[in-house]
Amino acid sequence: MKNITILGATGSIGNNTLSVASLHPDKFNIFALSANTNWRKMQTLCEKFQPNIVVMVDKKAARILSKFVGNKTQILHGIDALNIIAAHNETDYVMAAIVGSVGMASSLSAAKAGKRIMLANKESLVLAGDLFMQTVRDNNAELIPVDSEHSAIFQCLQSGKSGLTKIQLTASGGPFLHTSIEKLQNITPDEACDHPNWSMGRKISVDSATMMNKGLEIIEAHYLFNIPAKNIDVVIHPQSIIHSSVYYEDGSTLSQLGNPDMRTVISYAMSYPDKIFSGVESLDLVSNSPLEFYAPDLNKFACLNQAFEALKQGGNAMGTLNAANEVAVEYFLNNQISFLDIAKIIQYTLGTIQHTNASSLEAIVANDKIARKTTHEIIKRYV
Ligand SMILES: NC(=O)c1ccc[n+]([C@@H]2O[C@H](COP(=O)([O-])OP(=O)(O)OC[C@H]3O[C@@H](n4cnc5c(N)ncnc54)[C@H](OP(=O)(O)O)[C@@H]3O)[C@@H](O)[C@H]2O)c1
Repeated sequence: MKNITILGATGSIGNNTLSVASLHPDKFNIFALSANTNWRKMQTLCEKFQPNIVVMVDKKAARILSKFVGNKTQILHGIDALNIIAAHNETDYVMAAIVGSVGMASSLSAAKAGKRIMLANKESLVLAGDLFMQTVRDNNAELIPVDSEHSAIFQCLQSGKSGLTKIQLTASGGPFLHTSIEKLQNITPDEACDHPNWSMGRKISVDSATMMNKGLEIIEAHYLFNIPAKNIDVVIHPQSIIHSSVYYEDGSTLSQLGNPDMRTVISYAMSYPDKIFSGVESLDLVSNSPLEFYAPDLNKFACLNQAFEALKQGGNAMGTLNAANEVAVEYFLNNQISFLDIAKIIQYTLGTIQHTNASSLEAIVANDKIARKTTHEIIKRYV
């Protein structure tokens, strides 16, 4: 029996993790859960899963929740309490599924404590790739990717990297694959969040529409698999059936396929190296044909290019990219800037922040703060 801690339990990945765990009560016990403010959803989860510990980052939400939850569950609050459950000696596996850079510190705590980290929070690697991977190695932690593309590559590379020439991430192209740049100007947040294949939280849905999500995934892949940027590329595949591919010098290519449903990826991270029932139907290739592939349009999806450039630049450029994107997406979701402004604002921010190394957690956090402040100022000045 494995004790699971889910950071970001009320979100889309959290929900799917609980759904897989429910199918295997003999294998997984829900030990601890966390959320930010959503105490109503957390109350329902507590009734169903009876966790030992719950962290609500928001103090008020924790206070309200404590009125509705029985004695079996201890309720903590505050951002530091996330580290407690991530590193708790009764936790075996940590699902790191908080959205945004705020999830980085607790993922690192899990790594320091030598846990199995099921990493959905790609920001941990985007901000602190070198530090995070070193911490995983130093503490014999296990790092299993929870992103369909990285899980696919992880599976394809099970027999090693001998003869590997490149890895190729597939991208659905999001809801605006065939929309002209002119029309993108007037896109609403709801339209941007209406993803054709995947059901996800709003922030990552916008990232998917701008293709920044793929950009962050390139950086994530670089760190996870220790592959240089020049050996990573992206192909658009609107059906999201091939999740990613690896290419070898003998001319062969290995891909991993499946229906687009995160429960497959999550169940693999929970059961690795075995495979268990996830509740996802088997793939029917005939009903999904034809499968299409396109090269990405880097003019239309400028964010993808920005991520490649930030990775090549290294140091704090990736943290700046991420912070500028998080701030800009929030403004967009609040109807304060247009869809196309997101990439412009990121570009301004990247051009404004000085380049430094990202060698310590303090330096990374400081840069994140400066980049956010700069992005707010740029938005106020230019929009
Ligand atoms: N969804 C997918 O299919 C998918 C696929 C691959 C990777 N990912 C990655 O997985 C992560 C989670 O994505 P998601 O789609 O599940 O996001 P989501 O649905 O928006 O859920 C986010 C979770 O994080 C919590 N949270 C938000 N702000 C927080 C804060 N300041 N402090 C602590 N917790 C906070 C939320 O709590 P409240 O509910 O209280 O706000 C919620 O539990 C992201 O990094 C995303 O890029 C997602």
